[in-house]
This record gives sequence, C-alpha cells and structure tokens, in this order.
Amino acid sequence: MGQVRIVIGAQWGDEGKGKWIDTLAADADLVVRYQGGNNAGHTLYHNQQKLVLHHLPSGMLHENRKCYLGGGMVINPIKLLEEIDTVRKILPVDPSRLKISARAHIITPWHIACDERFEADAAHPIGTTKRGIGPTYAAKALRNGMRASAFANRDEVLAAYRYTAFQGSDDHHKRHPEVWQKFEEACAALAPFVDDVEQLVRNDIRGGANVLFEGAQGALLDIDHGTYPFVTSSSTSAAGACQSLGINPRLITQVVGISKAYTTRVGGGPFPTELSDATGKLIAERGNEFGATTGRPRRCGWLDGVALRYVAELNGLDALILNKMDILAGFPEVKLATAYLHPKFGRIQHFPADTAVLAECVPEYESFPGWPEPMAVSGDFKALHPRAREFVAAVEQFCGVRIVCVGTGPKREEAIYDRTYGAFRV
Ligand code: IMP
Repeated sequence: MGQVRIVIGAQWGDEGKGKWIDTLAADADLVVRYQGGNNAGHTLYHNQQKLVLHHLPSGMLHENRKCYLGGGMVINPIKLLEEIDTVRKILPVDPSRLKISARAHIITPWHIACDERFEADAAHPIGTTKRGIGPTYAAKALRNGMRASAFANRDEVLAAYRYTAFQGSDDHHKRHPEVWQKFEEACAALAPFVDDVEQLVRNDIRGGANVLFEGAQGALLDIDHGTYPFVTSSSTSAAGACQSLGINPRLITQVVGISKAYTTRVGGGPFPTELSDATGKLIAERGNEFGATTGRPRRCGWLDGVALRYVAELNGLDALILNKMDILAGFPEVKLATAYLHPKFGRIQHFPADTAVLAECVPEYESFPGWPEPMAVSGDFKALHPRAREFVAAVEQFCGVRIVCVGTGPKREEAIYDRTYGAFRV
C-alpha cells in the first residue's frame, strides 16, 4: 500500500501549508483537497513567479500530479475558472489531471450576497472572507444546495435560481443578470472536469498510489472543534478528510500538522497569546502577515502550546512542521504558552470548549533565550543554533509530537530537516 497522508493546518490557518504541500506533492501521485473553498489562499512560487491559488490544490504546479477537488469542498465556478486559466499559462491543465467531485457544493452569486449581508448585519461579525462559504454550507445542510453534478445539465444550473428563491431572494438574478450569466457560463465550462472523485481516490489507494489529502484553513477553525462561532463552516481537522472524501479512516498512514513558530489569526474571535505591543507588530512586519485572500493584516502573538497540544491530540498528529522559525531569529527572548489563567477557574491546562471562557484566559508562558540572525536556511537539525534547537525540543516535548522539519523561508529548499525521522518523506 502507498502512503495515504493528511496535511492539516495546526492553528487558525495561514501556517504556510502551501509551500509544504507543494514540497510533499513531489512524493505523491495524487493531491486532493477535502474542504473549504476560495476562502483559502496559498502562495506558491514557480521559477521566481508568484502564484496565489484559492481552490486548486497546492500540488497543481507539479505537471504529472493528479489534483482533485473533493466532495467536502465548496466551489465558486467563476473564480475556479480564472485560477485554471492562471495555471494554464505555466502548465497544461485538463480533465485527465484536474477533477472536481460531483458531490462538491457550488457557491452561487446569491450565497456571496448572503455572506456580505450576514456580516454587515451581525452584532458580532465573524470576520469572514465574504466569499459565500458559510451560506453555501448552510444551504447544503438545509438540503437546498447545488452540487457540481448539476454542471452537465443547463436546466439544473438554472434551477440555482429556484434554490436562491427558497432562501428569500427570488429576484437576485433579476437584479444581477450579468453575474448570473457569467456564473452559468462558468458552470458549463467546468462540466468536463466533474467526476466521481471519491470513487477514483478509493481506486487509486487500492492500487497502491501515494496520496496526499490537503487541508485548508486550520484545525482551530473547525466547525465542531474550533473556537465556535469564530470558525469556518467545514471540518478542517484530519477526520474531515475521511468524512468529506468517503475514505475509511484505517487507510490513513500519516497525519502531518503545520504550525508557525508563533501564532496568527485573521478575523474575529479569542486569541489568548495575541500581542498588541511592539513585539506583535514586529512579528507581523517580519513575517509579512497579511492575508493571501483578503489582504487583511493578521493578528500576531507567541506560540500557543495549549492550543497546539489540543490540535495534536484531536488530529492524532504523527509529525509536526514548525514553520517560519526565521521570523523569530534575532529576538532576545521567545515565548511558549504552556497554561492559561482564568479569573474563575484558575490555572487551566486544556483548551476550553467554551469560547467565552477562552476569551477570558490569560496565557502563562515559558520563556526561552532567542537564537541569533542570520539563521541557517537548510541542512539537518545540527544546522540549528543550540538555542533554536532548545525551543524546538521544548515545543516537541510539550505537545507530544515529533517536529520533523523547521521552515526557514518561503522557498521549497528553505527548510531544515530532522534526518533521523525516516517516515517524513516517502
Ligand atoms: P469564512 O471561512 O470566509 O466563512 O470565514 C470564517 C473565519 O475563518 C474568519 O475568521 C476567516 O478569517 C477565517 N478564515 C477562512 N479562511 C481562512 C484561511 O485560509 N486562513 C485563515 N483564516 C481563514
């Protein structure tokens, strides 16, 4: 049997998964995204050229990889078509290489309008990406959604009007005919890509393929296990891959988590280790912490070990990549939150289920002397400065997961590997 690996974000998204999935895709025959839509954004580099993908799996830039958009995803046809055209300038993209699950749900112009409206009217906005993600998943749960299987049938695409009517805006398409026209055309153009992706993935696994399941966002944004309601609308955790793709959980051979050496968050919601001081600002500037999808500045803070340990257990992480270590190089001290202090419950060592409790938590830190600049960018763990190794070892011990790799820059080769951990690469 081949390697069946899930890669997830171990924080609130933006951990730098794109680069790692792009790297790990070199070992995979097939890369499959399993949830979310164009709320995600991964920045990739191809021959110095910067590319930001939103729907397409990060493996897309490897010419011989098959890339599938799985049934747990939500898809904006107009935007997906634009992305395909962008990638086509570099590499061929055709239905033999790219497939869309017939089960994936479709983001219509009306769902986008709903997202904007809900955010504008909410007493406590979530800070969504306003890409229509929540309303599309809501329509799915209402059994009122449109699936990609409808692309092949113009009448079914037109029936999207009927769906929107059910949701209370029977005249959205009358008011915005040009958008709906573009929507219909994009649906028709994507029809050749639609297939029974889940069955194809199971066939490939049975045939011994190396498969990579690509998570979007991060485990703390999981609809069930994240900081509800300040979450996205899908199952971002590893279990979500099995559910969304119809994969028997026993087939998974490895779960890899990606975390930054510090923490960031975009949008609203509690964030105990957030730094509103000059250190937080410095991390944001050095780490270029601006959203790839919305351009919004990200909130920054020290690494939250309590949250990371929770994510490690929740997802059964076999290995962790600690990304963007270079951003902290040169800091006189670096911190790791190892407990929370709560005004009513005292010292808390677990990640609270109640988001209101989390909002009142103050982190208790362990402090480490920083490592100097410039940091080695490649090699094995021996290349790490002893103080950087001390920090890595402390995170590893606290979270109970082996750190197999440290990220030291945006390029594929900017990475330091623990060469004693054999199972990381196939
Ligand atoms: P939505 O997914 O657009 O509904 O947004 C819900 C929450 O998830 C907001 O806080 C967003 O900022 C956050 N979010 C969605 N996608 C991403 C992502 O790719 N990275 C980081 N945060 C995200």
